[in-house]
Amino acid sequence: MSSGETFRLGVLGSGKGSNFVAIADAIAVGKIPAQVALVLSDAEKAGMLEHARTRTLPARFIPPGNFRTKLDEDAERAYVSALLEARVDWIVLAGFMRVLKGDFLRAFEGRIVNIHPSLLPSFPGLEAWKQALDHGVKVTGCTVHFVDAGVDSGPIIGQQTVPVLDDDTPETLHQRIQVAEHELYPRCVAALARGEVSVQGRRVVSRIG
Ligand code: GRF
Repeated sequence: MSSGETFRLGVLGSGKGSNFVAIADAIAVGKIPAQVALVLSDAEKAGMLEHARTRTLPARFIPPGNFRTKLDEDAERAYVSALLEARVDWIVLAGFMRVLKGDFLRAFEGRIVNIHPSLLPSFPGLEAWKQALDHGVKVTGCTVHFVDAGVDSGPIIGQQTVPVLDDDTPETLHQRIQVAEHELYPRCVAALARGEVSVQGRRVVSRIG
């Protein structure tokens, strides 16, 4: 990004888009010095696309191809060109249910972040809140991290804890984690947009407000 230009975000998601809404709202009130340049989803009916259109932000469904957990080659090319055309600086994954691979990672190397509903490295993968409940931990939370070639394995930018209550169900615990996500993710994206995040190997130094 050249100086004086706004930090441009490309947001990818597959679901209801509550984290996208938290970030878009934080941008709207000036808490994140950035703009949403493009919203992409692999699910035509994703709530996230609807939220983006309500906010008159550019939003597109791009079919993911035939695989269940990743983009096929043509789809990957289509995602990368759409994001490059939109002159996106950073990729924000907000509930995108596919693992990103080679060419995508290379196109935006070191500029992709994700939010995961557990305190990584505990409980990577699907339904992390259910994994936490089944394991019997008393504290869980959420993690914002850089994306690398592994699953939920990149350097950690920020974490927020959430207590696990005796009468929690997977649903009540996930809801409480999401409240924490909606605080943590905008704070981390704001720090990135302000250039207040630096990576030293696995350790990330940041000024998360
Ligand atoms: C969040 O719980 C996030 O941690 C996970 O996917 C969920 C997305 O929720 N990666 P939403 O679509 O932002 O509401």
